[in-house]
Amino acid sequence: MTVHLVGAGPGDPELLTLKAARLIGRADVVVYDRLVGAEILDMIAPWAERIDVGKDPYGRSVPQVEINQILIEQGSRHSSVVRLKGGDPYVFGRGGEEAIALAASGIDVDVVSGITSAIAGPAAAGIPVTHRGTSSGFTVVTGFQNPDNPQRLDWDAVAKLGTTLVILMGASRAQTIRDALLDGGAPSTTPVAVVHRATTSQQEVSRLTLAELGETPVANPSIIVVGPAAALDLARISTTATEVPPFEATQGVIPWLS
Ligand SMILES: C[S@@+](CC[C@H](N)C(=O)[O-])C[C@H]1O[C@@H](n2cnc3c(N)ncnc32)[C@H](O)[C@@H]1O
Repeated sequence: MTVHLVGAGPGDPELLTLKAARLIGRADVVVYDRLVGAEILDMIAPWAERIDVGKDPYGRSVPQVEINQILIEQGSRHSSVVRLKGGDPYVFGRGGEEAIALAASGIDVDVVSGITSAIAGPAAAGIPVTHRGTSSGFTVVTGFQNPDNPQRLDWDAVAKLGTTLVILMGASRAQTIRDALLDGGAPSTTPVAVVHRATTSQQEVSRLTLAELGETPVANPSIIVVGPAAALDLARISTTATEVPPFEATQGVIPWLS
């Protein structure tokens, strides 16, 4: 009786870890989120039960307490349950809350880290989150905070950090974020990159300045990168990299597909 909290990575199925692929292919039940792509869901064994608890920001939303309850029920009935989340389960994934609820019910929890969109998103647009001489660190924040959360982000402090700022869940609040950073003293000319559906075939990258952020709608899901590193575009350099074999060629790690 183990529930595996598994990170599915940012979208590209080849960015799934081998451990994640193995667990997905063998699980009795997979409970998954909105950001997990179809190619990854195709790895679920045909006999396994699939439970969609995707939280659509514009529609249906399964409350977190209900998701915890589903995991506890499934975890008490089956030997292997995979709770599949986009990116990394512990980066704005509420994986911590699920781990606490499961442990409190006596169910073993195993965390399988995934590649977070906070790093892979900028990288897919040719932006290294740290770069010698440009950025000596990076800060990952949420652009949307529950108003009831007593731990408010201090945007004045964030504006002054001088590191690459990576904002998740900021699409619908782009203008508010821009105003908060400008009020905090960030220059209006600070480079910004918006990476939509990073690492997928629908990826789109927009480059702008902080003053321009939010002037046109930011599509969801997007990563907003703010700081001098956001002006870099090293993606073209990677064309010299060794060609990666097609995804099908890697499927030997999934027992029922091989
Ligand atoms: C609830 S958070 C989950 C983050 C996830 N646990 C991670 O580590 O990447 C959802 C937000 O992550 C960002 N996100 C996740 N995948 C993305 C992708 N492929 N492209 C752009 N943004 C993405 C968006 O900002 C989205 O609103």
